[in-house]
Amino acid sequence: MRSLLQLFIVLLVAVSAVQCGELAKSTDIVDATTICGEGWFYSLELNGCYYVSTNYTTFEESVTSCEDIGGILVTVWNRAEYDTVSLFIEQEDLGVPYWIGLKPYPYYPYFRWLDNANANYTHWLDGIVPSQNDTETCFAWLKTSTDDGWLEADCNETLPFICKRHTKVDSTTNVYGSSGSVSSPNYPAPYYADSVSLTYIRVPDGYGISLTFDFLGIDANSVIYVIDNGVVINIITSQSQRPTVETSSTQLLVRFEASKEGNERYIGWKASFSAFAPISTEGSFNSPNYPYNYGNNERITKVVHVPDGYGILFTIWDFISEQCCDYLTISTPTEGTLLTLRGNNVTKPLTIRTNSVKATLFWFTDGSVINRGFNLTYVADPNWG
Ligand SMILES: *[C@@H]1O[C@H](CO)[C@@H](O)[C@H](O)[C@H]1NC(C)=O
Ligand SMILES: *[C@@H]1O[C@H](CO)[C@@H](O)[C@H](O)[C@H]1NC(C)=O
Ligand SMILES: *[C@@H]1O[C@H](CO)[C@@H](O)[C@H](O)[C@H]1NC(C)=O
Ligand SMILES: *[C@@H]1O[C@H](CO)[C@@H](O)[C@H](O)[C@H]1NC(C)=O
Ligand SMILES: *[C@@H]1O[C@H](CO)[C@@H](O)[C@H](O)[C@H]1NC(C)=O
Ligand SMILES: *[C@@H]1O[C@H](CO)[C@@H](O)[C@H](O)[C@H]1NC(C)=O
Repeated sequence: MRSLLQLFIVLLVAVSAVQCGELAKSTDIVDATTICGEGWFYSLELNGCYYVSTNYTTFEESVTSCEDIGGILVTVWNRAEYDTVSLFIEQEDLGVPYWIGLKPYPYYPYFRWLDNANANYTHWLDGIVPSQNDTETCFAWLKTSTDDGWLEADCNETLPFICKRHTKVDSTTNVYGSSGSVSSPNYPAPYYADSVSLTYIRVPDGYGISLTFDFLGIDANSVIYVIDNGVVINIITSQSQRPTVETSSTQLLVRFEASKEGNERYIGWKASFSAFAPISTEGSFNSPNYPYNYGNNERITKVVHVPDGYGILFTIWDFISEQCCDYLTISTPTEGTLLTLRGNNVTKPLTIRTNSVKATLFWFTDGSVINRGFNLTYVADPNWG
């Protein structure tokens, strides 16, 4: 019976949203259990889940009971939320007050929610505002056919309670660029408890990714996995010292598993990333499979970076490719394209020196005809004068 009522509420909220001229398509009407879990009510308009308990507990116990099911004792931010939760309470019809997450506060506006947000909206029973000097009191919500509003109650009384939580958000973010920043969902507002978010970072080919956590404020049960090309290269917890991680591939995944214990009280994390070319003084680069044939449709970029005060001396030991369509270029940011090699008449060995500390090598093959390809080496070559 209860699940039928829940579905009814969802429909009702969806219809009222349409009447208010807000977007609510028929596809938005979903079963509350799917989104919020068994026993929860779902409000499409508020994008929130609400639980109206039938257990009787003290105020303190109600706080932990809500946490145990991944929520918080209900907060009410405005009239729309009040009216919606009011409808949910009516479904239970216990005729007694329910604990809400309100507490007294010595300064204006005199009441705060347990998450420390100001209670800008209040709805007192019969308009009676409690005396503002009793900091030990607790509050409950009475909703019957004749009464509707909040009242003071002895915190040790046992009453049912109302919990609230966001819908479970499993978000995916894709970021592409040579630098930028990424963060937990909702940042700098608290992340959603009991959710998983994936952030993919990709930098231009040939570079690695350097990722530095600038801010880390997660609960003790949440975990951030940093994954480089399928391999976990760092596991970050609340104990970690704002780490920097470097990848060897161009794509990085930050998998953030937020626990339900976090309970939407922690801000999360923020990190900045940049593409980097590791500095080296020598190295090599071959076409795939060299000295065996390369493949079709290859697009490979390699960035070479030597210390300041050096140029790069490349030696191409061997080169053979399809004349028309398979080629290797060497370019630098300051000198443009220095060299394009293709075909089978390249002088061997061939040397070329850059003035720049950085060079980009790019190997391209088309969809047909394969060959042996190339092998090359490079060394950092000091600038004289
Ligand atoms: C209500 O009480 C029952 C029995 O003690 C318990 O299993 C259940 O988890 C409680 N529900 C909530 C929301 O605390
Ligand atoms: C209460 O109002 C203040 C200022 O008017 C605002 O900054 C704050 O976000 C509001 N809090 C809530 C819970 O709506
Ligand atoms: C609290 O305020 C009421 C009047 O609003 C007053 O009668 C009462 O004595 C005050 N109590 C304390 C502890 O200050
Ligand atoms: C509530 O109960 C606790 C311990 O059970 C007690 O210390 C406290 O005085 C009680 N408060 C009231 C207002 O009765
Ligand atoms: C290599 O061959 C191509 C076409 O056959 C020709 O255009 C090019 O000048 C030749 N390069 C050298 C260095 O001989
Ligand atoms: C490059 O390839 C040639 C021919 O296969 C080989 O003789 C040479 O040793 C290779 N040099 C390097 C540095 O790999």
